[in-house]
Amino acid sequence: MAQAGTILFLPGDGIGPEIMEQVKRVIGWLAARGIEIAVEEDLVGGAAYDRHGTPLTEETLDKARRIGTVMFGAVGGPQYDDLPFEKKPERGLLRLRKELGLFANLRPAIVFPALADASSLKRELVEGLDILILRELTGGVYFGEPRGIEELPDGEKRAVDTQVYTSPEIRRIARVAFELARQRRGRVTSVEKANVMYTGVLWREVVQEVHDAEFPDVALGHMYADNCAMQLVRQPKQFDVIVTDNLFGDLLSDAAAMLTGSLGMLPSASLGAPAADGRRKALYEPVHGSAPDIAGQDKANPLACILSFAMLLRYSLDLGAEADRLERAVAAVLEKGYRTPDIAQPGTTLVGTSGMGDRLLAELDASVA
Ligand code: IPM
Ligand code: MG
Repeated sequence: MAQAGTILFLPGDGIGPEIMEQVKRVIGWLAARGIEIAVEEDLVGGAAYDRHGTPLTEETLDKARRIGTVMFGAVGGPQYDDLPFEKKPERGLLRLRKELGLFANLRPAIVFPALADASSLKRELVEGLDILILRELTGGVYFGEPRGIEELPDGEKRAVDTQVYTSPEIRRIARVAFELARQRRGRVTSVEKANVMYTGVLWREVVQEVHDAEFPDVALGHMYADNCAMQLVRQPKQFDVIVTDNLFGDLLSDAAAMLTGSLGMLPSASLGAPAADGRRKALYEPVHGSAPDIAGQDKANPLACILSFAMLLRYSLDLGAEADRLERAVAAVLEKGYRTPDIAQPGTTLVGTSGMGDRLLAELDASVA
């Protein structure tokens, strides 16, 4: 049997465990066909807090560093809302991103033909849509110092967050954007607010320099973030690769996700810089959250998680053909009209989380029959 690699499973909270269960079934399916992926599993987020009093233990972080490839479910839930900032489930995820140096966050927004009517936009605006939001993930206002809330002498309070970028941080994410665009339709839109923010001025300048010096073959445009939000819902097909900072990327990728009909469909990959052996540390996660309101009810859509796993196969295990196979199986299941509640439409067949997994495995079987 071919040993394809080892991955760390961090299912997390809410619907995390049940959608990750469907990924495990796909891993089982691959193993039965001679592609063995070893899985280690651990706690993260609220689940880790409940057990260990912290959303990410040092042991888990070490494991993630050693294994290098993480498949992540979702974190968070209302029972953790009142915890101090550093104990919140989300800190577990943010710490993994930062400590593993996962600066490049790929968020593709692809409209499956069968789902073009599930979008809140008209079919003709989204049919065939295939854009990639590349979000800088380890810098900007998410991590900038100083940050915090202080008490003022007069008893009032003052809160500070710091938006900060250095030219090397901008340069390395710009390079990833241009490299990805070369494999796609050759167009990059760089997004900031150079009209009001110094970080935006530097961002625009550095992206342009990298383009002119190394990627003159790629078409580059610059856009203000507010205009980009508007253009995304006005004429989304004008975009190919959008590269932007941590906070704007957070906002714009949610908007782009909705163009596809459901947040439940959007995968993501977060990649680090290549090491000496060419391997990148990486974390794969669905863009949607832990959806505590439907957790444990077999209602969650596992497809974003499955599609994230397809990205893992492609980028971390060099199993591009299996990634393609999995993505085709997802398209086929949708084509046949199977839908979880979040993407249900009149005339389609409602299935639950595990039912969607059943359909997917049936398509995988059919693909090798
Ligand atoms: C995302 C999420 C996270 C973020 C939260 C859970 C910290 O919204 O991955 O987009 O803001 O980055
Ligand atoms: Mg977000």
